[in-house]
Amino acid sequence: MTEIEFNEKARETLQLLSKGVFLTTAAEDKVNTMSIGWGYLGWAWKKPIFGVMVRHSRFTHELLEKNAQFTVTVPTVDMSKEMAFCGTKSGRDTDKIKACGFELLPGKTVSVPVLNCKGYQYECRVLCKTEMTEDCMPEEAKKLWYGPQAGGDLHTFYFGEITACYLI
Ligand SMILES: Cc1cc2nc3c(=O)[nH]c(=O)nc-3n(C[C@H](O)[C@H](O)[C@H](O)COP(=O)(O)O)c2cc1C
Repeated sequence: MTEIEFNEKARETLQLLSKGVFLTTAAEDKVNTMSIGWGYLGWAWKKPIFGVMVRHSRFTHELLEKNAQFTVTVPTVDMSKEMAFCGTKSGRDTDKIKACGFELLPGKTVSVPVLNCKGYQYECRVLCKTEMTEDCMPEEAKKLWYGPQAGGDLHTFYFGEITACYLI
């Protein structure tokens, strides 16, 4: 395990994010992970931030509302099968950690574990969250991403302060 600056692997992380990375949450003895493809690395309030967008319908949303901490695991090895699984099954009715055979390592700075797989790990504490509203987006995005097929299921933006960043 090698500690790195949060922006040291920013380019690689953003490239891999477009294919999917794992967002892990935990509350009330449940640990869950889901695939995410949208997110941001940057600065706010002079703090390093990982921003994630989670739709209201996700079990992950429920867990984040109970425990405002998360970890992001960016695999640098092929995990396309696990990514597809964790991006289509819900933790409400499937134990995805068990089903994928993920090993968990305790977070160093948060109560949420990280997935023990080769890649970049970000531990985050939610500093701020804000609700996406229909009036703040272009018509095209509304139709494409929040139309009848998505049932109007909007995202919450969670801004997580990165409290630790390392490679496994
Ligand atoms: C590659 C990929 C990227 C995804 N990105 C997001 C995302 O950024 N935000 C989101 O809310 N859902 C995203 N999803 C969908 C969730 O991963 C999916 O609905 C998942 O089953 C939710 O799990 P949960 O109910 O256990 O939280 C993505 C799915 C895939 C396959």
